[in-house]
Amino acid sequence: MKTYKSQGEDETYAIGKSFAAGLSRGDIIALDGDLGCGKTAFVKGVAEFFGCSDEVSSPTFTLVNQYDGDITLYHFDVYRLENPSIEECDWMDDYLFGDGICLIEWADNISAVLPDSTVRVRISKTAEDENTRIITIENSES
Ligand SMILES: Nc1ncnc2c1ncn2[C@@H]1O[C@H](COP(=O)(O)OP(=O)(O)OP(=O)(O)O)[C@@H](O)[C@H]1O
Ligand SMILES: [Mg+2]
Repeated sequence: MKTYKSQGEDETYAIGKSFAAGLSRGDIIALDGDLGCGKTAFVKGVAEFFGCSDEVSSPTFTLVNQYDGDITLYHFDVYRLENPSIEECDWMDDYLFGDGICLIEWADNISAVLPDSTVRVRISKTAEDENTRIITIENSES
């Protein structure tokens, strides 16, 4: 597990961008942490790394956004899916087991349908000050 400290949105973006260098097709990244902790900021850094020019924003109502770049990214926000049945998540399989990279905000809501190989990114606010975040990145092997 790797742990980073971010002291602003730009730092979270940069951590996402350098994390992206280790990604390849088929990877699934779960992003969890409170409202406004910086999950989307992290995804923006990943999208920058892959040269995606589309605007990155949380797909809270559409559930998934697609960004075309060197590798296609699928950006999910499953905030509104609380404890869905496995069948309610069937539509995600084509993305999860396709050859793009999936980044899923609020992934804890659908943890039952995510494979063990999912990379877990957790972002937490701290009591230190309002712009500090602790980011942990856990690979299944580490
Ligand atoms: N260290 C930090 N890293 C990321 N964002 C920060 C940081 N400090 C302050 N912020 C602010 O917190 C907010 C993070 O917003 P962002 O949309 O990335 O969060 P989110 O986790 O995706 O939220 P949501 O759950 O609503 O989708 C921004 O307004 C940003 O400016
Ligand atoms: Mg978001």
